[in-house]
Amino acid sequence: MRFVRSLTAATALLAGSQIVQCIPLDLDSEDSIKQAASTLAHDMMLYYTGNNTGDIPGNLPAPYYWWEAGAMFGAMIDYWYYTGDPTYNDVTTQALLFQVGPDEDYMTPNQTKTTGNDDQAFWGLAAMTAAEVNFPNPPKGQPQWLALAQAVFNTQAARWDTQTCGGGLKWQVFPFNNGYNYKNSISNGCFFNLASRLAKYTGNNTYAEWAERSWDWMRSINLVDENYFVYDGSDDTINCTRLNRIQWSYNAGAMLLGAATMYNHTNGSAVWEERTSALMNHTDVFYQDGVMFEVACENVNRCNVDQQSFKAYLSRWMAASTKVAPFLYDSVMARLRPSARGAAAQCSGGDNGRTCGMKWTQNVTWDGTYGVGQQMAALEVVQSNLIASARGPVTNSSGGTSVGNPAAGGSRTVGAAFDTHGATQADRIGAGFLTAFVLCLFMSMVWYMNS
Ligand SMILES: *[C@@H]1O[C@H](CO)[C@@H](O)[C@H](O)[C@H]1NC(C)=O
Ligand SMILES: *[C@@H]1O[C@H](CO)[C@@H](O)[C@H](O)[C@H]1NC(C)=O
Ligand SMILES: *[C@@H]1O[C@H](CO)[C@@H](O)[C@H](O)[C@H]1NC(C)=O
Ligand SMILES: *[C@@H]1O[C@H](CO)[C@@H](O)[C@H](O)[C@H]1NC(C)=O
Ligand SMILES: *[C@@H]1O[C@H](CO)[C@@H](O)[C@H](O)[C@H]1NC(C)=O
Ligand SMILES: *[C@@H]1O[C@H](CO)[C@@H](O)[C@H](O)[C@H]1NC(C)=O
Ligand SMILES: *[C@@H]1O[C@H](CO)[C@@H](O)[C@H](O)[C@H]1NC(C)=O
Ligand SMILES: *[C@@H]1O[C@H](CO)[C@@H](O)[C@H](O)[C@H]1NC(C)=O
Ligand SMILES: *[C@@H]1O[C@H](CO)[C@@H](O)[C@H](O)[C@H]1NC(C)=O
Repeated sequence: MRFVRSLTAATALLAGSQIVQCIPLDLDSEDSIKQAASTLAHDMMLYYTGNNTGDIPGNLPAPYYWWEAGAMFGAMIDYWYYTGDPTYNDVTTQALLFQVGPDEDYMTPNQTKTTGNDDQAFWGLAAMTAAEVNFPNPPKGQPQWLALAQAVFNTQAARWDTQTCGGGLKWQVFPFNNGYNYKNSISNGCFFNLASRLAKYTGNNTYAEWAERSWDWMRSINLVDENYFVYDGSDDTINCTRLNRIQWSYNAGAMLLGAATMYNHTNGSAVWEERTSALMNHTDVFYQDGVMFEVACENVNRCNVDQQSFKAYLSRWMAASTKVAPFLYDSVMARLRPSARGAAAQCSGGDNGRTCGMKWTQNVTWDGTYGVGQQMAALEVVQSNLIASARGPVTNSSGGTSVGNPAAGGSRTVGAAFDTHGATQADRIGAGFLTAFVLCLFMSMVWYMNS
């Protein structure tokens, strides 16, 4: 992407003075929401080159990591679900099938250096969504959506680690990747989210037991604390006795949909209602003047490429929660509507005059940033406003057509199919720098949040 930098300020000024809303959005009109979503989806997919001759289907170009492509195709499944527009279905299916890896479980040997449990999970959750919304099934003989989600679940359940911290998933799958000692909320939260949804879809209570187990473990080390705030992670070298207390919107979102789905799976149990309601209430830390924002990095302009996309998942999972826990509907919409308005308004940047930045709280002023994350977050929050007229998730006994395989992914031991010498010294050093940076950010946030 190329933008003429000098235009940035001019565009913002112009937009400010003329009150231009470059992605028009009337939330009372389904057509208007669909039109806005169509524009946002189109502009996001301009970043995708995986379907060009010679490129690899499913991959985004640098600086985007592999997981974000899985997240992006999840957004494209949502796009079809909300709008009915099939324009991107083929390219989405191609990508989701190309990346399954030799064991059809989203462990692709090309990505060993970038495959943590969370990375794998974003692809698995896209497949889960495809099953739940009856996204067109892959041809016979190809891996099927439900089986792919089950494969991701099975490989992760086999990694449940009781050696330290009383349980939990490590962030990383492979010991050679930096962060192998970290046990974090996004890995465990995605596993919880996936397990609860598999329980609902299949009716198989084994998945629900795993969801309960992962919830209980996260509570036990206070990754989810007694006030239902969700913190980033802990370290198994200290047996998870201290936490990195930074809060990210996607962690809260992953827990919310998992809890809401468990509420539904348990036929509305009081225990899961309380948890769901409390998690929902505590998402308020991610709102400023009623509009969603990434509290840990946005106002200080420190969000990295990954973090620029996180509001996409809080939006996505809040909206989906209303289908399984309808009591959430009013509070969710009261947050998604102003957020969508803010998101669309600031998509006013770049050469095309409608590029989205990250800050939804500043009306029509574009913040000068752009990327897949910014487009995806705006797309998800805008299209989520169609949730009322969207069909709830199907299950195997209520219209679901995806073919599963409870044994998918097998009982393969971790890394069996991989060359564990794949990471070079340079990669490890690079990862060390990344950790140092995250740590600095974390320290400054601790200061910021305590001040
Ligand atoms: C790749 O996909 C995009 C979006 O669906 C489409 O516009 C483009 O024509 C496709 N390119 C090729 C080479 O198929
Ligand atoms: C893995 O990398 C090879 C070599 O670049 C490429 O041919 C292949 O398509 C890639 N497969 C996946 C799933 O990324
Ligand atoms: C580590 O933490 C777990 C769970 O909190 C606890 O059961 C275990 O005894 C601890 N291990 C050590 C060595 O302290
Ligand atoms: C929920 O209700 C259904 C239908 O009444 C029943 O079959 C199922 O066992 C119940 N599930 C739980 C967890 O109570
Ligand atoms: C469970 O979800 C279904 C839709 O998938 C919904 O109709 C039902 O009301 C929900 N159950 C509860 C207890 O909210
Ligand atoms: C969440 O907030 C609502 C509205 O203020 C309140 O009724 C509900 O009791 C709260 N839930 C929990 C678990 O505190
Ligand atoms: C955006 O700014 C314009 C002009 O100042 C104002 O009329 C409008 O109400 C603002 N919109 C929001 C959502 O604050
Ligand atoms: C899903 O439903 C089909 C028939 O509708 C049935 O044959 C199959 O066993 C069910 N699968 C599971 C996992 O319950
Ligand atoms: C339920 O799920 C578990 C875990 O994947 C699996 O081992 C078991 O075979 C499943 N049961 C049925 C009836 O599908």
